[in-house]
Amino acid sequence: MADTLTITDNRTGKQYEVPVVDDTIRAMDLRQIKVRDEDFGLMTYDPAFLNTASCRSNITFIDGGKGILRYRGYPIEQLAEHGTFVETAYLLLDGELPNESELANWKAELSQHVMLHENIKKFMEGFRYDAHPMGIFLSTVGALSTFYPMAKNVDDPTLRRRQTVRLIAKVPSIAAYAYRHHVGKPYVYPDGELSYTGNFLNQLFKRTESVYRPDPVLERALDVLFILHADHEQNCSTSAMRNIGSSNADPYAALAGAAAALYGPRHGGANEAVLRMLNKIGSVEHVPAFVESVKNGEGRLMGFGHRVYKSYDPRAKVIKSTAEQVFKVTGRNPLIDVALELERIALEDDYFVSRKLYPNVDFYSGLIYQAMGFDPAMFPVLFAIGRTAGWSAQWEELLSDPTTKIARPRQIYVGPGQRDYVPLERR
Ligand code: CMC
Repeated sequence: MADTLTITDNRTGKQYEVPVVDDTIRAMDLRQIKVRDEDFGLMTYDPAFLNTASCRSNITFIDGGKGILRYRGYPIEQLAEHGTFVETAYLLLDGELPNESELANWKAELSQHVMLHENIKKFMEGFRYDAHPMGIFLSTVGALSTFYPMAKNVDDPTLRRRQTVRLIAKVPSIAAYAYRHHVGKPYVYPDGELSYTGNFLNQLFKRTESVYRPDPVLERALDVLFILHADHEQNCSTSAMRNIGSSNADPYAALAGAAAALYGPRHGGANEAVLRMLNKIGSVEHVPAFVESVKNGEGRLMGFGHRVYKSYDPRAKVIKSTAEQVFKVTGRNPLIDVALELERIALEDDYFVSRKLYPNVDFYSGLIYQAMGFDPAMFPVLFAIGRTAGWSAQWEELLSDPTTKIARPRQIYVGPGQRDYVPLERR
C-alpha cells in the first residue's frame, strides 16, 4: 500500500500524487494543482483551523474521541495524582521528569527569579482600582519585555532558557500583585521557604501574621489545578504564542499576546463566565429554564463543549474530585448543587448529547477557586499561571526547530476588484 494520495482535478482531468505522512498531506503539495500555468495553485480553506496541523510537536498528546491527555507521554491523571506543578513544568520544557538533583536545581532557579523589579510594582500601581486582574496580568507580562532587553536574542538557547525561567517564576508574583491591587491590599514579597504554589498563596492571602502557612490541602489542590492547565497543545492562546514567537518577538511580548487570547470567554475566560452563569441561575429549580434558554440560542452553557474533546475532558474528571477535597476544608460551595444539576440535565438532553457537549476543565474549576476565596475575575489569571509552562515549552520547541518560518496564513480575497480613487468632493 503506497502512502500517497491521488487527486484528480476534474477541471482539467489531470492527476496528482501527493505523499501522506502521519495521516496528513502537506498543503503546499496542492500548490502544483493549476488550471492555467499563471494560476496561483490550489489552497485549502480552513478558518478557525478545524482540520489543519500547524506544527509537529513532541509535547502534548490529546485524543479527543477517547478523552486522553498526556504531557510528554505521561497521562494527566498520573501527573495530577503523583506529580507537582514544578516538576510538570520541567517535564514540559525538558521532555523528561527531573531526578532529585535536577529538581533541586530547578526549584532553586525558580526561587531566584520570583521577585519583581520595584518599577514593575509601580507600573502596576498605575492601574485603576477596579482594573480586571487579567488586563493587569497581560499588560505587566508585556511590560517585562522592557526590563529584559537581552530577551530579544531569541536565537541564543541560553538566553531563551533564562527568560523561560523568569516567566515561570514571576507570573505568580504578577498575578498576586494584580489581585492585591484589585482588592486594595499591600503587596506581599515572596517567601523562599515555601513551595512555588505555597508562596503564591502567601503572596495572595498573607495578612498581618509574621509567617504565612498555607493550608496543605488548598496548596495541593491549586498545584493540581496548575498541572491540569499546564499545556493543551495548539489551542487558541498557544497558537497565539507560536504565531507571535514566529516573528522572533521576545517571549514576554509573545506571552502577553497568548494571555490576551486566553482572556476571552470562549477560552480561559470561561471559568469566570461559568461562575457568573451559576450565580445568575442562583438555585437548582431555575436550572431547567436556563437549559431551555441555551437551547433557544439565548447564550451558551459556559464550561461545556470543546473543540477537541468529544467524549469527555479528562481534566474535568480530576477537578471534580479535587473539588470534594477542597470543600472539606472550605465548606461546600452552595453553587455546586446548581452545577451538578446543570450537568445532570445537560448530559441527558439531546441538544447537548447530539452535539457532543460535555463539561470541560472550566466547569468545576471556578467553584474550587471561589471556595478558596478568589474573586471570579482572578480565575483566568490562575489559568494563565499554569499555562505559562506550556506556552514557554511550545515557544522553545518552535524556536529550536530549524524548519520554523514566520506564521503567515493565506486568504481568499472576496473584496472589490481594482477601481480608481474618487476625490472627496465626488463621493
Ligand atoms: N452551549 C451551548 N451550545 C454549544 C456550546 C455550549 N457551551 N458549545 C457549542 N455549542 C453548540 C453550537 O451552538 C453549535 O451548535 P449548532 O451546530 O446548532 O450551530 C455546536 O454546538 C458546535 O459548536 P461550535 O461553536 O462549532 O464548536 P467549537 O468547537 O467551535 O467551539 C467551544 C468550542 C469551546 C468554543 C464551545 O464549545 C464553547 O463556546 N463553549 C463554551 C465556552 C467554554 O466553556 N470554553 C472553554 C473551553 S475548555 C478550556 C479552554 O480551552 O480554554
